[in-house]
Amino acid sequence: MTWMITGGAGYIGSHVVKALVDGGEQVVVLDDLSTGDPARLPEGVRLERGTVLDRDVLDRVLRENDVDGVIHIAAKKQVGESVERPLHYYRENVEGLRTVLEAAAEAGVRRFLFSSSAAVYGMPDVDLVTEQTECLPMSPYGETKLAGEWLVSAVGKAHGMATASLRYFNVAGAATPELGDPGIFNLVPMVFERLTDGKAPLIFGDDYATPDGTCVRDYIHVEDIATAHVAAAHRLAADPDAALILNIGRGEGASVAEMVDIIRDVTGITEPAPEVAPRRAGDPARVVASAELITKELDWSARHDIRSMITSAWEGWLLRHPRD
Ligand code: UFG
Repeated sequence: MTWMITGGAGYIGSHVVKALVDGGEQVVVLDDLSTGDPARLPEGVRLERGTVLDRDVLDRVLRENDVDGVIHIAAKKQVGESVERPLHYYRENVEGLRTVLEAAAEAGVRRFLFSSSAAVYGMPDVDLVTEQTECLPMSPYGETKLAGEWLVSAVGKAHGMATASLRYFNVAGAATPELGDPGIFNLVPMVFERLTDGKAPLIFGDDYATPDGTCVRDYIHVEDIATAHVAAAHRLAADPDAALILNIGRGEGASVAEMVDIIRDVTGITEPAPEVAPRRAGDPARVVASAELITKELDWSARHDIRSMITSAWEGWLLRHPRD
């Protein structure tokens, strides 16, 4: 079976490509290289440079490669930027998806897997977020992911495609140092950056209604995200009626203070001690997945713990930011 992976040269996409190739699948990558890098791809994988907004490129790539299924990962993913530039986010994430879906439907593609996000839930007031928890996104980014899920479901029904929307929780880590996260937009790399600059890691708020007062999230290793895609791809290949919406998380929370402690331990940089900074606007106190449904549907569960995420992320960081 041949899969087209949009955004396959990016941080998460390249892990999905690697897992699919390791599992013996044929893949072709479509990436505009705005944040992706061809060096992230395994040898021999075909890369088409182009945007998901370009119907001509999509039509050609789908036709030339005889694509059986699409894994649509290409998207903009910065929550704060989406507040500043909603038009850009709706264009890239919703119009981009719509264009890929239209091209896929017209090319007769029967399987479609979509990268969604826990951002669709907004500020969930529950211990474990299930797929039944109400979706009330708090940012244009989260809105584009929720609208994307609706579009995927509707097109799946109307055009006879098996579909899956996978809601990623907080992704970290790397399969190899070369595949580390090049961005500095999330907790783990932000703390690496502060520590290696000799600055105190910042904890945004310690007065939340959580056990230690800092925000709790469900961190998941990017390699586990990748194996969940392989499991979902196999399911879509076997079940033409599949219409799945699934959390990808570990089902376990870790607080910011706990994460910073493990980061200090793994890096061996313990000074300066963390500082408490004001709350960051829009941060929910706790977002932890229930992973029950994905385990039941795909027989998948996460294998890596937090230490493994942070250790592998640190090796990736050191490769990009060598220290004397
Ligand atoms: N944080 C700090 N200090 C830092 C950086 C982050 O205290 O230097 C805190 C944040 O306030 C938050 C937690 O660490 O409480 C995690 O923050 P991230 O920015 O790493 O992640 P978010 O939970 O805000 O968002 C992430 C992704 C989104 C996605 C969301 C889904 O960045 O794209 O998870 O839950 F939508």
